[in-house]
Formats: sequence, structure tokens, C-alpha cells
Amino acid sequence: LYIGVDLGTSAVKLLLMDEKGEIKKIVSREYPLYFPKPGWSEQNPEDWYNGFADGVKELMAGQDAFAVDGISFSGQMHGLVLLDEQDQVIRPAILWNDGRTQDECDYLNQEIGREKISAWTANMALTGFTAPKILWVRRNEPENFSRIAKIMLPKDYLAYRLSGVHCTDMSDASGMLLLDVEHRTWSQEMIGLCGIRRDQLAKLYESYQPVGTLQPEIAKQLGLPDTVKVVAGGGDQAVAAVGTGTVGHGMCNISLGTSGVVFVASRDFAQAPDNALHAFAHADGRYHYMGVTLAAAASNKWWMDEIIRTKNYPEEQKGITELGANHVYYLPYLMGERSPHNDPEARGTFIGMTMDTTREEMTQAVLEGVAFSLRDSFETVKKMGVSVTRSRINGGGAKSPLWCRIMANVLNIRIDKINSEEGPAFGAAILAAVGCGKYASVEEACAKLIKVVQTTEPDPYLVEKYNDRYAVYRSIYPAVKDLFPKMK
Ligand code: XUL
Repeated sequence: LYIGVDLGTSAVKLLLMDEKGEIKKIVSREYPLYFPKPGWSEQNPEDWYNGFADGVKELMAGQDAFAVDGISFSGQMHGLVLLDEQDQVIRPAILWNDGRTQDECDYLNQEIGREKISAWTANMALTGFTAPKILWVRRNEPENFSRIAKIMLPKDYLAYRLSGVHCTDMSDASGMLLLDVEHRTWSQEMIGLCGIRRDQLAKLYESYQPVGTLQPEIAKQLGLPDTVKVVAGGGDQAVAAVGTGTVGHGMCNISLGTSGVVFVASRDFAQAPDNALHAFAHADGRYHYMGVTLAAAASNKWWMDEIIRTKNYPEEQKGITELGANHVYYLPYLMGERSPHNDPEARGTFIGMTMDTTREEMTQAVLEGVAFSLRDSFETVKKMGVSVTRSRINGGGAKSPLWCRIMANVLNIRIDKINSEEGPAFGAAILAAVGCGKYASVEEACAKLIKVVQTTEPDPYLVEKYNDRYAVYRSIYPAVKDLFPKMK
């Protein structure tokens, strides 16, 4: 048996997978998220561990604990966990969705310069990333900064508690802005800029490599044998991609979760023009490019819950019958935007309504606006010379057949649904199996375990219509961007 752990922002999910790749059980434990000041977002690493330890007991109830071979992780990315000499947590973790580091990002992107930062790390500084948070602690909490013995990411803190090893993996480390992504090693330049030492960073592994075994006292506490291998795991997007079989070269996954992601697996390293996409290491040992629409399913949820005031999303979507013809446009920038604009001040926008505009057309515009925003990332992928003709899809929004049709026609690709909806936790269990030698590689495991069960084809007539609409969509952001209120 293999345990896949998905350490998320609201809960930790644990999944038990058997030798044949069948999912036997899933349990989850929630924990609090703290917003001590506007724009801040923190969590207590101890809550992650306690939620995990409690969840394992329920997961294993009635199962043969001695059959467990390995455990691995998918983790919320970018969070800063600081440990002192005694390996005690110094302050609450500062999470991926915390926005306190605008000054530090301006320092990195403007004073040091975006070209240099991208040459060293393959990415530009964004407020959620880890290195700007280290600079923030250095400037605002010098006492805490002076006590740092180890800098960790959220899932690595769990792996450390289990194995006693200070480890991280290439995919998650890519989101720290401290890794030389192309060469899969820490960037000496970034270490210097942050005023830290290399020995304060964890040892780097590939996501499918074992880092050790369960420490005997932890094994006893969890009711598992101390022979269980702890496998490094990866950042949630890379591991979700493993869980949908998006590995190797040229495969694509679209995630319609709270945020939306276009994820392309690549054999080769490359950087998108203007940092329009993240260039990260993949959990299969190679690379991936990733474009992020911050409010994807979140846009639809906001529109349905707050404005239309219904929980019955399928019923609301039933009224949408004509795709391709809609005068209303929507920009999904409710939380600012990452790809391709990297603009935290961008805002949601509706444009083009007339007296006869219906509620259904507005709902449709929201679904289409998210699809157009993901097409922005997709167009960048195409410009980089990667040809993508089909994509897998996952996340809550993928449950809507209408939204899958819109995606297929806006992107002009086939959209495949696969046999599992458990992206990150399933991906983590697959990494555990590879780390235990059950499969020779992540690619082999995915080929054996993941099957396409349903395909949505694009319709050439609608593709044409959506091409015209996308051209209009593209012209809206440059026309309105100076109107959004400035944060400073
Ligand atoms: C990736 C990202 C999210 C977080 C939270 O860049 O910010 O996927 O890891 O899930």
C-alpha cells in the first residue's frame, strides 16, 4: 500500500492506494488559516502535522499497516517555514497567497532587475514566492531572522517530522525563487541576495526519490512500521499533473480549480517571453511551464454565490444554449492576475451589456472569460514552439460539461477527462510507488495507471467564432488597466 498526502491550504487529504493503483480510502482533516492583517495569510505548521497524524489513524483503521511501503506528498507551494537550531518552528508559516512582500518584489524585479533574477532562477519575483518572504522577515523581524537554522516548504516540514531529514524537491523548490531551475541546484546569487547561507536550505531530491524511512518513535505514534519509505513528493501543481498523467513531453493539463492552471510538461528547459509563464522543474525529473489564472472556478463561484445567489450551478448553466455568440465580455481578475499580466492591481470587469442582455449571457461570459484567460497562457506555450493538440482537465469546474465544451472550442483542442478526480493526492501516492521501486519511472507509472474516459472535441464553426471573440477579449485589458485603483 502507498499513502499520498495532499497538504492543502484549507485541509490535508490522505489517500490510500493499493498495489494495482486502486484508491482504497480517502480521509481529510481541516485546519485554520489566519489573516492577521489585510493581505497576510498564515498557518501553524503544527496544525498540519496534527491533522496529518490524526488523519493517518482514520485512514489505516481496518487496513493492514504492515502492507504500507511508502508515503509521499503534494504540498501547497511557496510557503515559508522557519526552524531554529532545535528544529522548533520560529514563527507561523507565511503562505503562497500572502501579499505582504510587494516592496521586496519591487526591490528584486526593479532594483536588482528582472533580467538578472530570471537568469538566475528562470522566474521573476512575485509576492507569493518564498525568497521575497525571507527578505521581509530579514527587514521586519530581525530577531527571528537571526535564529533561522533551516528554511523549509510546507510539505517538507511534514517529511522532516516523519523522517528527520531536512529535504525538499526540485518542483516545489522551483517556486522559492532560490533554485537555478535549469541546472536543478540552489542559486548562489539568490542565496547571497537574501543574506542566508546554503546550509540553511534543505537537501534537494527529485520528487520520486526516497529521503529516508519513518523515525521509530513516529512510526509507533502513527501505528505504521518503521520500514515505510518517505518519498520527497512535490509542489501541488506538479503532483496534480502526475495524478492526471501529464508527464513527459508536450502533454497538457488544464486545472479548473479555485485558480485555473495551464500546465505543460516538457523534456527541455525554456523560459517564456516576459516571464508570462512560470518555468519550473517537474516531478517526473524534467520541466514544466505553467500559466495561472488566479480566479477561475473562484470567478464562477463568486458570480453564482454572491450575485446570482444560487448553489445549483448545473441548473443555471442549462439556460445557456448558444455558444460563440455573446456580446458580453468578462475579465476574471477578481484577485489581480498572474499570467500573463503579472498585475496584482488588475480587477474583474464586465463589458458590452445592452438592454436585452440576459442573466444567462452574463453567466456564459464568466465561463468564457476564464477560458479566454487560460488561452492567454496557452498562446504563450504555442509561441514557445510546443504544439499541444489535446489536454486533460481536472478541478471542480471540470465537472461542468458546458465549461469543458467552451474550453475545447476556445483553445481549439480535444479535452480529455481521465479515470480519477483525485489529482494531487493520487499523484503523491504514485510518487510513493515509484520511490519504492514499484515502477521504473513516473512516466511508466502514469502510463499504467491513468486512462482517458471521455473526450470533448472542438467544433470548427465555434472555434472560428471564439477566435473572433478572443481578439476582442485581448484588447480589453490594455484599454482598461489604468483605470483600476492603485494599491499604493
Ligand atoms: C502555484 C500556487 C498554488 C499553491 C496553492 O504556484 O500558487 O498552486 O501552491 O495551492
